[in-house]
Amino acid sequence: MRLVLIGPPGCGKGTLSSFIVKEYGTPHISTGDIFREHRASGSSFGQKIASYIDRGELVPDELVLDVVFDRLGRPDCAKGFIFDGFPRTLQQAEALQERLHKAGKPLDAVVAFEVPDEILVGRLVTRRVCPNCNAVYNIKNCPPKVENTCDQCQHELVHRPDDHEDVIKSRLEVYRRSTEPLIDYYKGLGLLVTLDGSQGSQEVDRQFSVLAAKFS
Ligand code: AP5
Ligand code: MG
Repeated sequence: MRLVLIGPPGCGKGTLSSFIVKEYGTPHISTGDIFREHRASGSSFGQKIASYIDRGELVPDELVLDVVFDRLGRPDCAKGFIFDGFPRTLQQAEALQERLHKAGKPLDAVVAFEVPDEILVGRLVTRRVCPNCNAVYNIKNCPPKVENTCDQCQHELVHRPDDHEDVIKSRLEVYRRSTEPLIDYYKGLGLLVTLDGSQGSQEVDRQFSVLAAKFS
């Protein structure tokens, strides 16, 4: 399966990705997770991108593309991949199309999540994540078994610095301005499928399974 998951912050891209990895074994490439790992490592690349992430702005395309194409070139991606949070600009989308076309491995589909803004904000302020294994929780509807502790690796959970209301607002604006236009771009390429992400996560997983049967 070669897929892109596209949708606003908090729509459930990371949550559905965990289901896909478990169910289909497809490698998950989240540019947000990769950038947060660099940031936490204190590398010079991590320092360069930190201010963009903390302000809810996009990391410049040239930095993003290097990281993504390096990851895509690793052996596990030969059997497929799920992109989560990439591409986010037309330049990124066109570069991906070109790269996959040259490799003779085009996308099977682009899955667009539809979720109203008021639901997104509510989910993000109550989200907690594991900085060690990237597992995603929610203190309201998907809490860990032990308070503030990752079920998978027992690491302490964190509230992402960009999950505070002022930064969420900027991230939503950036999404509408820079990323939402990709929906028409992929529709034009005949790749777009939509998913009602406002439903509970089991229902979202079920909707995805119905879609996946057509392209796996
Ligand atoms: P990134 O980490 O990609 O953040 P995002 O796209 O804003 O998406 P989120 O991770 O916030 O949301 P999600 O859709 O994964 O939701 P989740 O499943 O966690 O990017 C962060 C930053 O990195 C960007 O702002 C930018 O600076 C930079 N960046 C990354 N990629 C870039 C790129 N390509 N170009 C340039 N810059 C880039 O769910 C959210 C919450 O809701 C959780 O608590 C979850 O438990 C809950 N939930 C999920 N699904 C459901 C459901 N169906 N019902 C109820 N609750 C649910
Ligand atoms: Mg995510």
